[in-house]
Amino acid sequence: MIQHKEHFHGSDLEKIEKYYGIKKEDIVSFSANVNPLGICPKMKDALTSHLDVITSYPDREYTALRNAIASYCNTEAEYIMVGNGSTELISLFIKSRHPKNALILAPTYSEYEREISLSGGTCHYFSLLPEENFELSTAALKQTLYEKDIDLLILCNPNNPTSTALHTGQLREILSDTSARQTAVIVDETYCEFAPDMEQVSAISLVPEYKNLVVLRGVSKFFASPGLRLGYAITSDADLLSYINEHKDPWTINSLADLAGQVMFTDREYIQAVRSLINNERTRICKRLRSIPGLTVFEPYANFVLVRIDRPGRNAGELFDAAIREKMMLRNCSTFPGLNEQYFRLCFMLPKDNDRLLTLIERFFESCGN
Ligand SMILES: Cc1ncc(COP(=O)(O)O)c(C=O)c1O
Repeated sequence: MIQHKEHFHGSDLEKIEKYYGIKKEDIVSFSANVNPLGICPKMKDALTSHLDVITSYPDREYTALRNAIASYCNTEAEYIMVGNGSTELISLFIKSRHPKNALILAPTYSEYEREISLSGGTCHYFSLLPEENFELSTAALKQTLYEKDIDLLILCNPNNPTSTALHTGQLREILSDTSARQTAVIVDETYCEFAPDMEQVSAISLVPEYKNLVVLRGVSKFFASPGLRLGYAITSDADLLSYINEHKDPWTINSLADLAGQVMFTDREYIQAVRSLINNERTRICKRLRSIPGLTVFEPYANFVLVRIDRPGRNAGELFDAAIREKMMLRNCSTFPGLNEQYFRLCFMLPKDNDRLLTLIERFFESCGN
């Protein structure tokens, strides 16, 4: 077996195509964390029948879109700013804060660190530990905020790649501490809508109370639309929103994404179908993975699960290689700070694809004995 040396991210299908000679259309990506049901039917109909919206500039204020997001999130339209994916908003909000000392989780999504470094700040890590099931201790976090004189805290909730989550009560505790010290807090909720108890983990209900809080979300994962590039930020800091609006480029959301957003958040049937698929598959997949000796499965809240290989002689690179040869791509997590070659992540796809991957994983570990 060829040792897997390259590292591939969820969106690296073109690289995989070249490296392994497999057509990207044939690959099932257990790595991109995108819901497998495809785009919602209401949005597809609206886009195909209103393609001519691209003949006009979008509304500079995106009023209708912001209203649609506000009613989906049960919040105020005036708190909302839309962006070209949550990626644009991560960048805008970090730049606007100019953090001297920012604190991020380890492991977490890599884009925060890149933006903090680009804006000239120092990035500190708060380590989540496997022996604590990658769960965050709010007391230890508060201590670190104080010791390192942190002016920006970024939490990913549920966190990528650990799939662990903070509950609203813990978020409130962190926010009352940080607001007293005027530390800015960004909570990236890209995966929040997949959580079995979404209201219990979301920070959106805390937005009116804490001006130092910015919640970020996007449609790439839950609404299976990464190519649309639509994200949104929610904050009650009106001055910050005006500052960013004055300094950012106009019209970074095109007319198609503007229209799509006005429709997709109202497709209740689709939203329910995604939730129930992910909830069922989460339970089923974890049960099957837990029955494989030598694997540690960390309890997931999002639409993906982090797994550790505790079997000598086997690692995530080899498992990645075995799976990609069967046209299934999972995530070798060795590039995440705090993880190593023993960790892999997979997202929940359609039941028949999940079964195919689970069978491959079972065989992979059977073949190395106990
Ligand atoms: C935690 C997290 N935040 C943000 C993003 C980027 O999302 P978007 O496509 O909305 O820019 C990703 C993409 O993988 C992610 O995992």
